[in-house]
This record gives sequence, C-alpha cells and structure tokens, in this order.
Amino acid sequence: MTALHTLRTDALVSGYGRTTIVDDIDLEIPSGRISVIVGANACGKSTLLKTISRLVPVQGGAVVLDGKSIDQIPTKELARTLGLLPQQPIAPEGIVVADLVGRGRHPHQKLFRSWTQEDDRAVTEALRATGVLELADRAIDELSGGQRQRVWIAMALAQETDILLLDEPTTFLDVSHQIEVLDLLTDFNASRGTTIVMVLHDINLAARYADHLFALKHGRLVASGAPVDVVTSALVREVFDLDSQVMPDPVSGTPLVLPRGRHHVLGATDASTDSRDS
Ligand SMILES: Nc1ncnc2c1ncn2[C@@H]1O[C@H](COP(=O)(O)OP(=O)(O)OP(=O)(O)O)[C@@H](O)[C@H]1O
Ligand SMILES: [Mg+2]
Repeated sequence: MTALHTLRTDALVSGYGRTTIVDDIDLEIPSGRISVIVGANACGKSTLLKTISRLVPVQGGAVVLDGKSIDQIPTKELARTLGLLPQQPIAPEGIVVADLVGRGRHPHQKLFRSWTQEDDRAVTEALRATGVLELADRAIDELSGGQRQRVWIAMALAQETDILLLDEPTTFLDVSHQIEVLDLLTDFNASRGTTIVMVLHDINLAARYADHLFALKHGRLVASGAPVDVVTSALVREVFDLDSQVMPDPVSGTPLVLPRGRHHVLGATDASTDSRDS
C-alpha cells in the first residue's frame, strides 16, 4: 500500500509569461481516491495538472503536498511521490517500448546504482497490466495511437508513485480500451491506494469513474463534489454551453448526460427549434 499524502492548491494562479490561465483555484484532492477534472477545451485543465507537477510555474498561491509548498521539495523526492502523464508526451526518437516504460523508474534509482530486479518487476507488471507486454521490443514510432497511449500509461504505472496525475489517459483508445484503462486505474487505486487525478473529456465516463469531480471554466473552479451531486443539466450548460438531459446511467447508476443537439431530437419538429426545455 502507498503512503497517504495530502495534496491541495491554495488560491493557485498560474499561466504562461504574463498570461494567467489557472485563476485562483482551491483544490482539495481526496487522498486515496479518484478525482476527475472536466471542462471545455482550453479552460486550463492541462495547465492545472502541469502546475501541480511543477512543469508550469506558480504565479500566485501555492501547490501544497503534505503541508509543504512543492517549491520546497527536492525534484527526485517529488518525482517519487507524484507522477504526471501529460496530454501529449514526447518519446525520444527510436526508443523501444520496454526502455520507455523503464524510464518511469528513474526516480527510484539511486546515484551509482543502476537497474534492479525491483525495476524489472515494476516494468513487466506495468506492461502486462496495460496489455502491451508483447510489444516490449517494438519501437514506439511503429505503434498505433492506441497502443502508444497504453505504453505511456504503462510508464506512468511503472513509476509507482503514490499520486498519479493523468491528462486524458483515454485519448486515442477505442471504447473497449477506454473502459479497460479506466478499470485498470480503478484496480490500481483500490489495491495500492494510489491517489488518482485525471482529466477526462467524456463526462459520462468521468461521472462513472470519479469519486470526486472538479469542473473548470475559464481557469476557475465552478463545481467540486461527488458526480451525483455535481452533474446536472445546469452544470453542463454552464461548463460546456450545451443543452442536455441528465438521467441515471442504467449500468452504473451515476449521472448520464444526454446532449441535445439541433438534430435527432425526438419530438422536435424543426431542427432549429428553440423549445428544448423538458
Ligand atoms: N505553453 C503554452 N504557452 C502559452 N499558452 C499556452 C501554453 N499551453 C497552453 N496555453 C494556453 O493556455 C490555455 C489553456 O490551455 P490548456 O492546455 O491548459 O487547456 P485544456 O483545458 O487542457 O484544453 P484541452 O481540453 O484542449 O486539452 C489555452 O488558451 C492555451 O492556448
Ligand atoms: Mg488539455
């Protein structure tokens, strides 16, 4: 089991140069649980995760891990505690799968002490869990988008951090692999107590897999809580500017968002109908 860490942001402000993106965010990330961040494109989700991992500088407020500002934590110690799978990770050219996943072990390696059996075990376990063990010797550049994404997830898992931040881990995955990855992360959370924070675009999968949801709009936190309390058609309208109907998901019982577009709406006689309240 992992050690339980506390992670929060206090009035966090961050961005690029003089531009502010993350605007005064207080996040209390539940330890040992799965949190999902949702929000429209460009609202600052990736910037927030990058700021928490110290890849984007803090402009105001703080990211606080175990009571200490992350600015005060040595790099390797931070990397052993908190791992980030970015939205668009970049692999060194020509690297093979096993070597890339092995790079996730760097924070565990001591100076002058190289690869150990423990590293071997972690890498093989991560490759197996994500279903890419048979690709171990293949070059990353030769893989399909979905295969590559699972390799990146393997790398994040191999790092065996107590806190795992994942930015859209289901991108490029077909529906079956999306569910497989989310189930796998849920297993990882349940068996190891890993605190997981991820960005997901699919609001329905977010509502199903999250213990806790954070909704962002224009760099601000507009909702925080259990999906059943937070996901309403009013929230969907506020965050995504979209008309929708919300009902219990017949599979999971969690909120299911059914978008109402201009077409294919039962009972609507005109595609441009405006009378969509029900
Ligand atoms: N390196 C950068 N330099 C300058 N501006 C940036 C940089 N990265 C992102 N931005 C800007 O910051 C804003 C927020 O971007 P961010 O990537 O955090 O959004 P997001 O919520 O993750 O969006 P998406 O759903 O499309 O991934 C955008 O307006 C974007 O153009
Ligand atoms: Mg993003």
